[in-house]
Amino acid sequence: MQIRKVTVLGAGQMGSGIAQTFAQHGFEVVLYDIGQEQAARGLGHIRASLVRLANKGRISAEQSQAALDRITLSATLADAADSGLVVEAAPENLEMKKTLFRELDRRCGPDAILATNTSSLPITEIAAATARPEKVIGMHFMNPVPVMPLVEIIGGLRTSDDTLASVKALAQAIGKTAVEVRDYPGFVSNRILMPMINEAVYAVYEGVALPEAVDLVMKLGMNHPMGPLALADFIGLDTCLAIMETLRDGFGDSKYRACPLLRQYVQAGWLGRKTGRGFYDYG
Ligand code: CAA
Repeated sequence: MQIRKVTVLGAGQMGSGIAQTFAQHGFEVVLYDIGQEQAARGLGHIRASLVRLANKGRISAEQSQAALDRITLSATLADAADSGLVVEAAPENLEMKKTLFRELDRRCGPDAILATNTSSLPITEIAAATARPEKVIGMHFMNPVPVMPLVEIIGGLRTSDDTLASVKALAQAIGKTAVEVRDYPGFVSNRILMPMINEAVYAVYEGVALPEAVDLVMKLGMNHPMGPLALADFIGLDTCLAIMETLRDGFGDSKYRACPLLRQYVQAGWLGRKTGRGFYDYG
């Protein structure tokens, strides 16, 4: 089946980036969020990102406008009904995702593929909430989505080979490289990235170095584009904590315990860039 229409659930940082990327590559996109206001804010981010790409000469002004014209906003899940692919990019809450997938399963056509952008939750369990587990898959994009070339593709225990092949082809059609990994906590990306970020937080917590010093060591010494603490602020400290807890619970291994300082920042509401304060001040 030729997929031309995609619904993206969640107009936050990841959802709006995913919607933009599909629209830039000629897909009709429905960008859904629970309220018109949230969806409109997502469209504002997309507009800003497209202007940035156009100003850099990466795309023309016409291509930027055409991409915007392919996106419609929605606050009702019924609008997903005729999409060939749904990509869910809601917050990292397993129960919320299962409820959403149950609802999508009821509303979408029988051939529709239901993908989740979860960064670490079990695809197999999300799929089991539906009557079509063979058509449920993980499609894990990296932030900022329009720039990062990777999509981690995760088949659950019951995902079919057809679904895997379709989603790999779709990733290629939007200019991404698909890497297939298996459904274990954190997949590959966050199983490796998050313990590194958590270790950087421990270095600050134990007074080994200030955040600026930790980040400089990794930028200048290891050629990382961003230091781990700046990256944690970029991802969101609440998301980092949630992923560490998924790793710890999923493997039952204390080596994945979250640093108390990370937990305390989240308790304080210092979630990184999105709240104006994390390891750095963005005020
Ligand atoms: N939209 C469009 N273009 C964007 C953009 C956006 N949101 N953000 C950056 N860009 C473009 C810039 O315009 C620029 O384009 P040119 O190369 O044409 O100049 C390019 O990307 C680089 O940006 P900048 O010059 O502003 O800054 P930079 O060189 O420091 O790059 C960065 C910014 C791409 C974010 C880079 O710092 C980087 O790669 N950081 C690491 C990002 C990373 O690790 N992401 C993965 C996070 S983990 C995750 O997402 C998954 C998870 O589950 C937690």
